[in-house]
Amino acid sequence: MKINRLHVAVLVILVFLAGSFFVDAKQQTKAQLPTVGVLQFVSHPALDQIYKGIQTGLKESGYEDGKNMRIVFQNGQADQSKLTTMSQQLVQEKKADVLIGIATPAAQALANQTTKTPIVLGAITDPLSAGLVKSNEKPGGNITGVSDKSPVDAQFDLAVSLLPKSKTVGILYASSEENSKYQVAEAKKAAEAKKLSVKTYAVPSSNEIAQTVQVMAGEVDFIYIPTDNTIANAMQTVVNEADKAKTPIIPSVDTMVEQGGLATVGINQFELGVQTGKMTADILEGRSKPASTPIYTFKTGDIIINQKQAKQLGITIPEKIASKAKIVE
Ligand code: TRP
Repeated sequence: MKINRLHVAVLVILVFLAGSFFVDAKQQTKAQLPTVGVLQFVSHPALDQIYKGIQTGLKESGYEDGKNMRIVFQNGQADQSKLTTMSQQLVQEKKADVLIGIATPAAQALANQTTKTPIVLGAITDPLSAGLVKSNEKPGGNITGVSDKSPVDAQFDLAVSLLPKSKTVGILYASSEENSKYQVAEAKKAAEAKKLSVKTYAVPSSNEIAQTVQVMAGEVDFIYIPTDNTIANAMQTVVNEADKAKTPIIPSVDTMVEQGGLATVGINQFELGVQTGKMTADILEGRSKPASTPIYTFKTGDIIINQKQAKQLGITIPEKIASKAKIVE
């Protein structure tokens, strides 16, 4: 048979049709994979650990990104308008089956976009005061998840045993962070119960952190930092300024001790993420519903001590504390 133009044309059309069929089929299976949309407020070590934990928690529950599910990850870089656009995209275009909000502003941005798609909270200090749930026991809507509420009493117990001469504590936080307001009130109560006098220092933005820490150094015996995203994001600045004046820092989480805080009793940030991932898997599988799933709260934290900072500040760690603690250099 002689190959003429008609044959070639038919062949070209057939190849084209087959190709587009395969592309279609591929896109379809991709679209059919269960999709988890993750919105992280900003990058700092604690939130990055939480996201890592989320991936591990999902994997331990049998969900692996790219195999039998898809994770669409977005980082809002602490920008409110980015958070809004990204939330809209995750809900409308990516059609996520379950959404995860890491840190309060991200969770709120997602909650503003949908009352239907389930949202799992990744380490939100107080979901109730953030307006995300009706109650921590019975959230009531499309939202449940994990709280990273700090063991503040244990943290101040540790602070006074390491720094027994302290009279005044200064609490450093960002006035823009709703999640910090709750913690500042809790920390104030806990510190006063230990007979410490409390001064609070709210920074309007990260630009004022260095100067504020310099002021604090002259007015307080040690600095307490709640799980504030703005401060966590600028922890290096805080540590540099506090070190100059030899002012100890008692932060609220392990990652901030690793960055140069002295010590804390903190919830492991990675574990917070693992728990968030597991709750997400349960919802994906239809095993639980946000409305009737209580907010998960960690009951205890681990003692973590930065040995290098202790040395620099001339603090000896009592043996009975050191033996229970995780030591970082
Ligand atoms: N709790 C914070 C919020 O609700 C998020 C967060 C979790 C965090 N772990 C942290 C902030 C550690 C600072 C440091 O927004």
